[in-house]
Amino acid sequence: MGLKSVSVFRIFSGDKLVRNSLLNHLGVQPFRMLLARVIYKIIPFRKGKYIKEVDFIRENGMYQIQNFLPQEQFNALKEEVTNLWKRKDVKINIRDQGGCIMNVIDVKTLPQEELPQLIKYSKNDFLFSVISGVEKRKISFKNSAILLEKLVQGPQHLHDIEADMHSDIFFNTHKAWLYLNDVELKHGPLQYVPKSTVVNFNRLLREYKFSLDKTAKGSRRVSDDELSSRKLHPETLTCKANTLVFGNVNGYHRRIRGLEGNERYAVCVSVRFNPFIY
Ligand SMILES: [Fe+2]
Repeated sequence: MGLKSVSVFRIFSGDKLVRNSLLNHLGVQPFRMLLARVIYKIIPFRKGKYIKEVDFIRENGMYQIQNFLPQEQFNALKEEVTNLWKRKDVKINIRDQGGCIMNVIDVKTLPQEELPQLIKYSKNDFLFSVISGVEKRKISFKNSAILLEKLVQGPQHLHDIEADMHSDIFFNTHKAWLYLNDVELKHGPLQYVPKSTVVNFNRLLREYKFSLDKTAKGSRRVSDDELSSRKLHPETLTCKANTLVFGNVNGYHRRIRGLEGNERYAVCVSVRFNPFIY
């Protein structure tokens, strides 16, 4: 592919990589990462009411809160979601991720009047204030994805691609999961590496090498050597039902392999914007 066939707009897009050998040799990927980070740093956006939480996520990339919803509201939400999973008329997107099956329902495809609890949750002031604070954009029901997730653990001998440590993409972008059941090791909990969002020479060099790898696709995989050379330590987020977890998926993360047949359920709020346009 020649330089001419690559629109300059693709460099300034949210695409994971720019598929151009010359540009990659010139260092376009670390350049995009640095520029996205500089823009993120200088964009003014009020932290809102929840400064402590926003600062914590900006610094560490993750944050978790137990007993997030009042118990009565949590029970009603869980019941509503459980009933949705039983319905035959609801479209389920099934993603075979190797050793695990991720089932997803997009809440916005369903009639809102049938989902009072999910709609109430989708307007939760704390959740959306914090996610706005860390995204540095006004986030609401309208410009976010609200997804119901059901993760089913498959046979141990199959390779679960999401169980490899990785970074989703080169810029700050966030998700928030409310877990509807207790998450133990057998359910395949999230593992997150605090402070892995920090951009330093070590990380830029690895992003550069990744961009030169012609077989590279999807999200960049992270080796144990990278973690130890950056003195980073993963944290496994086993938790009780009704725990809310925020994660900047630019940071390193994966899920632990659970035991076959176990399921975990979550409501996920997810956003992803072009990091060069605010
Ligand atoms: Fe990921």
